[in-house]
Amino acid sequence: MASIAIIGVGYIGLVMGISLSDFGHKVTFADIDGKKIEKLKRGEIPIYEPGLKELLDKSIERKLIQFTTDIPAAIQSSPIIFIAVNTPTGKDDRADISAVKKVAEDISKYINEEKIICIKSTVPIGTYKIVEDIIKSKNKKFNFEVVSIPEFLREGTALYDFVNPDRIIIGTKSKKAFENLKNIFSAINCKPDRIILTDNKSAETIKYVSNSFLAMKVSFINEIANFCDKVGVDVQAVAQGVGLDNRIGNQFLNPGPGFGGSCFPKDILALLKMSEDSGINLELIKSTILINQLQKQMIVKRLKTLLNNNFKGKKIAVLGLAFKGNTDDIRYSPAIDIIKELKINEAIVQAYDPQAMNNMKLEIPDITYCIDAYEAAKCADAMLILTDWQEFKKIDFKKVYNLMNGKIVFDTRNILNLNQLKSLGFTMDSIGRSNLVM
Ligand code: UGA
Repeated sequence: MASIAIIGVGYIGLVMGISLSDFGHKVTFADIDGKKIEKLKRGEIPIYEPGLKELLDKSIERKLIQFTTDIPAAIQSSPIIFIAVNTPTGKDDRADISAVKKVAEDISKYINEEKIICIKSTVPIGTYKIVEDIIKSKNKKFNFEVVSIPEFLREGTALYDFVNPDRIIIGTKSKKAFENLKNIFSAINCKPDRIILTDNKSAETIKYVSNSFLAMKVSFINEIANFCDKVGVDVQAVAQGVGLDNRIGNQFLNPGPGFGGSCFPKDILALLKMSEDSGINLELIKSTILINQLQKQMIVKRLKTLLNNNFKGKKIAVLGLAFKGNTDDIRYSPAIDIIKELKINEAIVQAYDPQAMNNMKLEIPDITYCIDAYEAAKCADAMLILTDWQEFKKIDFKKVYNLMNGKIVFDTRNILNLNQLKSLGFTMDSIGRSNLVM
């Protein structure tokens, strides 16, 4: 079993490290955020991710993990280092890689043996070379290899995704580093022909192209859903029929309020900026971003129409604040823009989310946060569903009908049974299914 250091204990670093320790590897986690490290030492997980707490407890008990803020010590603790710090959108919309550079500087100073340095963070094309040059700048003594190894796990299903990936991309010129990493990942459920050796630049690009393609798929189905609404076609029937074509695939064909999260919006923008920097126009990428913006505006507009073009003083029950179900993450959540727009229009927002309310309170403190969907529905003129939480499918709408003032429900995730709610007396709207309520 290997000894591994992970620098940067964000979503990816944490899930990857805890999973690797579950395989039996010894993992040292390091982060400059002392509060986060203290929490983790106490066995507390700073994010909501199903199953992660149980696995953390197990690894702590097996004494396979350590948490520290001492970055030099972490660097020296292991021949294999994963850089998993965040690369947020910078002021100029480009990915800000300053945290990655800082880790490279630390490695350059504190390197104490031959190392494999793996970049897990999503980084602009060519970053591997910047990291390589920084490490060489102070270190003349020890050999090292920089490997670009993007991660494809999703929030909410992160543990499953890490252990059951569609592919593992390993970008390196070193066959030895490739074999070493294949050993470390040997417990991962991935067919050998799906463990791909490639060059660093291609590996970096694969990550951006994957996320941008998926974002494009979401914008595509959102646009098609709006078209379906106009022509009286059920988008779900269309998505099913289209998705059965293996060349298209049935995933990422659910229309909704637009894509959000810490990855798609950031990565697609970064790809756009990279293309601009290299003098290429990526029109599809531009449209994907624009359609995503328009989708949120369209939702507010449609809700306004349902409320006789007047939001002033109207109470809106907003169900779902996270950017998708099964997470407490609100980064770039469509709910943020939509709630802000409702507030500008002087609507009164009564919000509920099973996990994301504490995070949203920091972003938008001045709305009412409710203990459940029923409290949010009390005296509401309309209900707006923005996140695909399973919990919302189980809501007792007979009860909701009696609690609400107006009887309007706008299900932007298509998770409710329209006809059932219609028969209860609700006025319904959804995305791409207007034929079902006509
Ligand atoms: C995404 C990718 O799916 C992962 O492969 C990648 O590793 C990750 O980004 C990352 O770069 O770290 P994630 O951000 O967790 O994962 O979320 P997704 O499940 O991909 O959803 C992204 C957004 O698209 C969400 O807002 C979701 O609601 C929306 N979406 C997704 C739809 O509106 N419709 C769909 O059919 C699918």
